[in-house]
Amino acid sequence: MSPTVDPGLASALAALGHATGPLAIGGVPAAELAATFGTPTYVFDAVVLRRQAARVQQALGPRVRLLWSVKANPSVAVTRELRRAGTGAEIASLGELHVALAAGHVAATLRFAGPGKTDAELDAALAAGLGCFHVESADEAATLARLAAVRGVVACVALRVNFPQELSGARMRMGGGSSRFGIDEAELDAVARAVLAQPSLRLVGLHAYAGTQVFDAAAFGRHCERVGRCLAALEQALGIVLPEIDVGGGFGVPVYGGDPLFELDAAAAALHTVVRAHDRPERTWFVELGRFLAAPAGVYLARVVRTKRSGGHAHAVLDGGMHHAAAAAGMGAVLRRPALMVAVAEPLRHGTPVMVGGPLCTPADQFGDGIGIGPLAAGDLVAVLHAGAYGLTFSPHSFLGHPAPAEVLVEGGVARIVRDRGQATDALRGQHP
Ligand SMILES: Cc1ncc(COP(=O)(O)O)c(C=O)c1O
Repeated sequence: MSPTVDPGLASALAALGHATGPLAIGGVPAAELAATFGTPTYVFDAVVLRRQAARVQQALGPRVRLLWSVKANPSVAVTRELRRAGTGAEIASLGELHVALAAGHVAATLRFAGPGKTDAELDAALAAGLGCFHVESADEAATLARLAAVRGVVACVALRVNFPQELSGARMRMGGGSSRFGIDEAELDAVARAVLAQPSLRLVGLHAYAGTQVFDAAAFGRHCERVGRCLAALEQALGIVLPEIDVGGGFGVPVYGGDPLFELDAAAAALHTVVRAHDRPERTWFVELGRFLAAPAGVYLARVVRTKRSGGHAHAVLDGGMHHAAAAAGMGAVLRRPALMVAVAEPLRHGTPVMVGGPLCTPADQFGDGIGIGPLAAGDLVAVLHAGAYGLTFSPHSFLGHPAPAEVLVEGGVARIVRDRGQATDALRGQHP
């Protein structure tokens, strides 16, 4: 491999087991997958999913339980593979509850986060026997207490804490200062006391997810230290033991050229220090991860529909785009940077720069200006790597009415459809002219 290969791209290809030759996923040539299932298509490698979960669990060690954040890829097949690899799951909607159950999870083991859970959602989750509610406000705690009392059940609660400090090093922060997420640390004691006073609630722990795309393991370590200090203070003030501590996660994965690699072992070591300092035999620690588990296992395959030159630049227009792979096309990013994209025929080609975009009528539908994978011709296949998280369901797939892509799971040379390709008539679904 050339020493100039981008580290994120090199790591994405290595995760798929690519060394030389055309791209293959799970032992099946990408060109064969495209011929069989059409394009655009998401392909997930079951072995990579399970390997990634095992790698993280090994780094976290026996005192820390790994949870899969279903929102990152609410595919039943993906969620099932990760469950088989030993992950628990955390959900953020009733839709995700259905996905988790269909993937074989038991409701009593699931954890339910989200700042806007409606009364109906809370009640349905209680009816399903949900294991633990990550409560994000005093108001939510009071509502949950009322609903649980009506049902005659006791709901387990972990309070989501919002620290005054942001999780530095996270590309997207969900906490720090004033926030929709979690309970301000200064209010935590009062809300905990209110929960303890409710016979229909049982206070079991803390939840401290604070941001995604964290690339700084030391910043994650400092976050874990805050969790430890907060835990110790609360237990001492209230004279209780909290058996379930979820420190969050958000470990970063390269999405664009130039992105760094996350130092998993350094993050795990920092967490171990906090666990050792605050451990008790009855305590379970959790880390919840979406992207880090699923992104390396996924590839978005698309085909070049048209090529042309304009203003002195080569352009390639694909049959897929930001409506399926919004994150790779830079949605939410401040600066446009090139997606981790390769030409399927020659993934390590140092080719000529091409402006690679999708079919949508918006300049936002662009995977990068000048990606070095050219020359490209109509019919060529390209692949977006590290595409297994925040793909289809994170993307505005109804925009412009193109069908949703198919999703395929590959294992040991065998590929099968796990989500049907959409149809053009889906644009009419649910409409009443
Ligand atoms: C509460 C919560 N947990 C977990 C995640 C998953 O984060 P990531 O995919 O970065 O690991 C998110 C992402 O937004 C989240 O909001």
